[in-house]
Amino acid sequence: MSIHLGDDAPNFKASTTEGEIDFYQYLGDSWGVLFSHPADFTPVCTTELGRTALLKEEFAKRNVKVLAVSVDPLDKHITWVKDINETQHCSVDFPIIADEDRKVATLYDMIHPNASATFTVRSLFIIGPDKKIKLFITYPASTGRNFVEVLRVIDSLQLTAKHSVATPADWKEGDDVIVVPAVSTEDAIKKFPKGVNVVKPYLRYTPQP
Ligand code: BEZ
Repeated sequence: MSIHLGDDAPNFKASTTEGEIDFYQYLGDSWGVLFSHPADFTPVCTTELGRTALLKEEFAKRNVKVLAVSVDPLDKHITWVKDINETQHCSVDFPIIADEDRKVATLYDMIHPNASATFTVRSLFIIGPDKKIKLFITYPASTGRNFVEVLRVIDSLQLTAKHSVATPADWKEGDDVIVVPAVSTEDAIKKFPKGVNVVKPYLRYTPQP
């Protein structure tokens, strides 16, 4: 099954390092990041899960719950977590799904047969509190993800969900944002009291609301 932006995130029940979970119940009213990795006891994955654990407060600040998934079994996950904690100087306390039957991988199209017939690629989905898919990115096994970028896109998604703005290339928290085309300049001036800088009729900046 392929997933598109705006789709309902498929719900599932799964066995994880934090016990049995129902995905929707686990998320509650939070945002969610669900990300797959190819296999346990592999070097790049070890750094990715460690990095995620170290960013715990950053995810919490943004009201985001994270879950990892691979097709390895639970006992392997549990042993591997000890290695991650030791080598990455962290404490992994988010669920790692044991997806031996590939239920979650199939629901989220995380197995790309021309990359690997059996292992999940590095897919990452961001899910809103409305349980809709807000963003996904897919990396090959050989490239570890940039989790600062993951936090940056969460900042953009959360900001643009609240205000009629979009974020320009390389935007980061605190930078000026763009007034969306659907808002007229006249309305933008009323809506954004910090000011609107009209560079072109279609390119209008305002300080981050
Ligand atoms: C890794 O996580 O290090 C990895 C996994 C599969 C292929 C290449 C690297």
